[in-house]
Amino acid sequence: MEFISQKAKGLKQGAIRAMFDRAGTMTNVISLGIGEPDMATPQLVCDAATEALHKGITHYTPNAGTLDFRKAIAAKSYLKDIGYDPAREIIVTNGGMGALSLLFLVLLEEGDEILIQDPQWLNYVAQVEYCGGKAVRVPTDKAHNFIMQPETIEKLITPKTKALMINTPNNPTGSVMDEETMRQIAEIAVKHDILVISDDVYNTLLYDGAKNTCIAAFPGMKERTAVVNSLSKSYAMTGWRIGFVAGPAELVSAMTKCQENFNACANAPGQYAGTVALAHPELCEELRKVFENRRRLLLDGLKGIKGIESNDPKGAFYVFADISSFGLSSADFCNRLLDEQKVVCIPGSAFGACGEGFIRIAYTCSDSDLAEAVARIKTFCESL
Ligand SMILES: Cc1ncc(COP(=O)(O)O)c(C=O)c1O
Repeated sequence: MEFISQKAKGLKQGAIRAMFDRAGTMTNVISLGIGEPDMATPQLVCDAATEALHKGITHYTPNAGTLDFRKAIAAKSYLKDIGYDPAREIIVTNGGMGALSLLFLVLLEEGDEILIQDPQWLNYVAQVEYCGGKAVRVPTDKAHNFIMQPETIEKLITPKTKALMINTPNNPTGSVMDEETMRQIAEIAVKHDILVISDDVYNTLLYDGAKNTCIAAFPGMKERTAVVNSLSKSYAMTGWRIGFVAGPAELVSAMTKCQENFNACANAPGQYAGTVALAHPELCEELRKVFENRRRLLLDGLKGIKGIESNDPKGAFYVFADISSFGLSSADFCNRLLDEQKVVCIPGSAFGACGEGFIRIAYTCSDSDLAEAVARIKTFCESL
């Protein structure tokens, strides 16, 4: 008897995980590969979770999440001006990934198409395909700082297109979509009657005057946008698994039924602590400032390395750097960098064909490690 489904067998280990497994067998490695803040969750938030445990907030919550937390999301987050009804239009999920998987579970019929940027964090593709959908990649390029172009999107829309994913600031590029491009994409979504899934998990991490714009705020968009967010990156809470979706009531209701049947709810103390976190946006700002300094350190350091050219990353904690001048594939470059200089970077090809020739560098380590890593990358590049 074959126990495991073909579908499950088709799931692959991501290239990022594979790099970490290799690095795990070595010593003295500096990782610029990790997609999560390295700092501790703010004390205030930890204290709130401890209080929740002592108060006995250790039981199931409503499937859509506690009303207190949903009210905080509606009233205190960046969504407050759009105006979501916490009782009907918000669901709390197991992080952003839990939000995305519930979304694809309730949205997709066999063969439905979802437009996904290339390069892009690949979990989207894995989830869409697992749920029977087809991931259609939207090519982007360095000339446009890896921002999806409205005309390219429009050409790829077919009668089977159900949704377009946008992710700004973006993983892996750190690029931030400008407001005008977003407006044009919103118009295309309305014209072709498609849903937009807006993954905003990095939207508190913005630099150089970049602005946070949510596509749901454009005319006709609130009713066709599923906003996905989490506290993972903004409050250094990746392990807490607290995220949410704000969207049309019908969609939230379907997701809530799915959550009831699949995983009941997000963890109760985390929701309690999350409610406190949202009342303290200054905690996000403290984190952002740390990353802002590191970003400067990294970009300045890369400028001093002949052959490497960075993109213009105005958000998240990633730089997407062009290494094509060395004539190596991005996988060969990263493997050799790890073997010869013990630095982990992620090959751009891990995020799609358009990422070939680039590497993702995450500035999620201490300033001193970052400075040492840049020195090692320089030595490596000079040896090529
Ligand atoms: C673009 C993007 N979306 C969503 C997530 C998921 O975040 P979480 O599930 O921790 O909230 C990640 C994590 O790396 C990400 O990079």
